[in-house]
Amino acid sequence: MRVIAGTMCGRRLKAPRGRQTRPTKDRVKEALFNILAGAVAGSKVLDLYAGSGALGIEALSRGAQEVVFVENDRRACRAVKENLANCGVKATLLCCDVNVALRKLAAAGRRFEIILLDPPYGTDPEVLERLTRAELLAPAGLVVLEHGRRDALPEQVPGLVLLKKRDYGDTTLSIYQGTLLSRGGNNMPVALCPGSFDPVTCGHVDIISRAAKIFDHVIVTVFPNTDKNPLFTLPERVEMLREATSHLPNVSVDSFEGLLSDYARHKNAKIVIKGLRAVSDFEYEMQMALMNKKLSPDLETLFMMTSNEYSYLSSSIVKQLARFGGCIDGLVPQGTQGKIMARVAERYGSPSCHEEG
Ligand code: PNS
Repeated sequence: MRVIAGTMCGRRLKAPRGRQTRPTKDRVKEALFNILAGAVAGSKVLDLYAGSGALGIEALSRGAQEVVFVENDRRACRAVKENLANCGVKATLLCCDVNVALRKLAAAGRRFEIILLDPPYGTDPEVLERLTRAELLAPAGLVVLEHGRRDALPEQVPGLVLLKKRDYGDTTLSIYQGTLLSRGGNNMPVALCPGSFDPVTCGHVDIISRAAKIFDHVIVTVFPNTDKNPLFTLPERVEMLREATSHLPNVSVDSFEGLLSDYARHKNAKIVIKGLRAVSDFEYEMQMALMNKKLSPDLETLFMMTSNEYSYLSSSIVKQLARFGGCIDGLVPQGTQGKIMARVAERYGSPSCHEEG
């Protein structure tokens, strides 16, 4: 086993003898650090279930500012010490149970930008919840969990968003990011993303996924639109949104017929997120935000600028395009394209999809 890259590249690392758990395979280690890429340099890293310390040492070699190693097994602790000495680096090693270490570090007010977790396979699925409860992750920090492919992990962890999941043989790497406004426990900040979503576009999904990185829980709520003749029914729109956001574990989809302020009260939500595409959106959105504030003074509306590539996109543009045979590929989530074309054909007759270029 060797350090793969960085200032200590090529240094040999000892694996602890007779240890139950397996060292991270080079292929997995390489993939893990490719995923972390620029996040490692200058970061504070916590290496839990450190084993030989190979992951933390790799992080130090790639420019991490500090690594705290946690390992309970005595022989493994000796291996970490030897490996650190052979690489000529100093680091903190806590030779104790992970839960004890989490409490100690939390009491000391420590925060880490990256937390590496390589527990024994078949580990307690609550490991992530214990970690977030300890509040050791810096806002928007990353948690990399190496686990068995068959290990059942919770879909939703308060305070964490699953960014990526990659399989390497029987090993899986799950990469989570901490939400910016996480408070953990039952005190999760909930944000509402309301709209008529007739139909959902890629611009909507962009705003929803960015909101999901900031808040613990995002509720996308479909309201009936002012358009008397919507293309899709409320349940159909909910269904399409559920499909389009199924990759976001902290997003749920709901519908409501009534005032947004009443719905927010009912859900105990204090924050509404709206996307702004251009100055032309502003006047209407400000009117809505002020009316909602009058109806419910502790309801705040936060505006998020739509990403550049979606600044011209709206549900009505998509409907027009589909109706007159334009191609809506890339403008709406993949699963919805066929449904929109079919509904438009049903209602207005069959258009053909013009390919451009
Ligand atoms: O996607 P849209 O059409 O811009 O969404 C508008 C929506 C649904 C957010 C807005 O019409 C709304 O909040 N409807 C609920 C009724 C309400 O509370 N209106 C504001 C006070 S009159």
